[in-house]
Amino acid sequence: MCGIIGYVGYRNARDIVLEGLKKLEYRGYDSAGIALIKNGLFLFKEVGEIKNLENEVPEISSNIGIGHTRWATHGGVNKKNAHPHVDCKGKIAIVHNGIIENFKKLREELEIKGHKFTSDTDTEVIAHLIEENYDGDIRKAVQNAIKKLKGSYAIVVITENEPAVIIGARKESPLVIGIGENENFIASDIPAFLKYTNKVKYMEDGEICEVGRNEVKIFDLDGNEVSREEKIVEWSIEEAEKGGFPHYMLKEIYEQPKSLMETMRGRIGEIEPFVDLGIGLEDIDELTLVACGTSYYAAMAGKYILEEIAGISCNVELSSEYRYFGKRKGIVLAVTQSGETADTLAALREAKRHGCETIVITNVIGSSATRIADKTILTRAGPEIGVAATKTFTTQVLTFILLALELGIKKERLSHSQAREYIASLKKLPMAVKEVLDKGEEIEKLAKMLQDNESIFFIGRGINYPVALEGALKLKEISYVHAEGFAAGELKHGPFALLTSDTPVIAIVSQDKTHEKMLGNIGEIKARNSPVIAVADENDKEIAKFADYIVRYPSLPPFVASIPITVILQLLAYHVARLKGRPIDKPRNLAKSVTVE
Ligand code: G6P
Repeated sequence: MCGIIGYVGYRNARDIVLEGLKKLEYRGYDSAGIALIKNGLFLFKEVGEIKNLENEVPEISSNIGIGHTRWATHGGVNKKNAHPHVDCKGKIAIVHNGIIENFKKLREELEIKGHKFTSDTDTEVIAHLIEENYDGDIRKAVQNAIKKLKGSYAIVVITENEPAVIIGARKESPLVIGIGENENFIASDIPAFLKYTNKVKYMEDGEICEVGRNEVKIFDLDGNEVSREEKIVEWSIEEAEKGGFPHYMLKEIYEQPKSLMETMRGRIGEIEPFVDLGIGLEDIDELTLVACGTSYYAAMAGKYILEEIAGISCNVELSSEYRYFGKRKGIVLAVTQSGETADTLAALREAKRHGCETIVITNVIGSSATRIADKTILTRAGPEIGVAATKTFTTQVLTFILLALELGIKKERLSHSQAREYIASLKKLPMAVKEVLDKGEEIEKLAKMLQDNESIFFIGRGINYPVALEGALKLKEISYVHAEGFAAGELKHGPFALLTSDTPVIAIVSQDKTHEKMLGNIGEIKARNSPVIAVADENDKEIAKFADYIVRYPSLPPFVASIPITVILQLLAYHVARLKGRPIDKPRNLAKSVTVE
């Protein structure tokens, strides 16, 4: 997730763009850049905070400019990969948020035509494609260029040849136009310009806009002008940063259909089934997984997924334990959203010291873990600000499913038709999560019923066991209610002693080989008078005879279903915490990234 902004008007564009970039910093940044036009195009880029860039940009009295905060997805974090990117002549500048899936092929074609590239990014191909299509009309050039792109993009373009106009285009990445008086703005998010105007026009997928100082026009891909209603945004800056949600955590929960789509983008194909995470993985028979916190539960889920789909036996270890006691052989795969957790970095270093091959699944390119590990798989969830991990957990689990499918196909453990079925179910996943998100009110009602309980248990079997642990962790960390997750078969070995009519049990029930046993477990709990809330498949008819309350999730293969199930538990934790008035985004005593051992 990157932040982009463009300005054209009567004010100093340098200051407006830099200020807008600061307001977009919450979208994540590893580097930033700005392009301004004043009798020619000026370009400045810096690694790190916007402040670093601000110190480098001289006072240029320009009235048109674009800027970008980068959250890298292609190419390392350095100055040459920071945006804006320019064409061969340095006359066209572009900023981009999204992923261009076919950039390698486009780059090869453009290089054959003589275009010279200076970065490793997917974005730079767009600058050269626009150059290739430019014959004096920048909007038409953008229109023709984007027809060749596969993937997601919000782009903003300026050229010194037409210094009064900004062109924007979007597909599956946000872009919004801010309408001012004798000035206009365009940005990936409203906070970038909210100080100056609250009148906006939202762009839709497949549209191109031409933004001048006094005029805004929106076109479809064939160049036909479309009309767009102006909307008034009533949010404060703080509300706007949270997309109108009361907390970052809730915003991030609702972002999951999109983040899951990004995790899969360009990595799966259904017709001739393939999955490719792009790190050239060969046959693997054994893996050691290391992680902390929520990432540890994702690794536990990964074990179920890799063992069943790809026949890879997995040994899952807490990073803090692995460091001193772990098995230092073979391939070690670390899971860490931040890539900065001290215990996980220590585990990775320890593995390397013993000659293990190392892989990291992380959300942050350029993080310490990516620099230590031999190979990196990015989850592409976009920055997560709420301390409680949500979208990063579900994208980690999805990454494990992709990894297992890639290896299962390579090892010929999966037939083409099985692989195709899995891939088809993954394509339904964002929609399935959306369906669960639409149950917000129903889950809030359940939260009201549970908010006064002192202790809540979560149970599941198979992959639903780590999902139960994660559900309990979410609840305890943000609502401070005592919560425990158990493998359903284990209740009878101790926890039963704690069950009373005041201890609700949340039972995750799948329509698979564990179904009957789960119903048996629920019966045992009911016999001890504890209320049971079942999280059950929409097609599960029997569950109604057993549970006191049921939240349904869309029917999907078991591993895939674990993702919408998790979203139900995230929403439940969120609503209990909100009803109890907890500081949801910053729970007491916790930090987003723990950089001490
Ligand atoms: C902290 C966070 C957790 C996170 C854990 C591991 O404790 O509060 O949400 O799961 O660190 O973080 P990582 O960045 O390695 O996934």
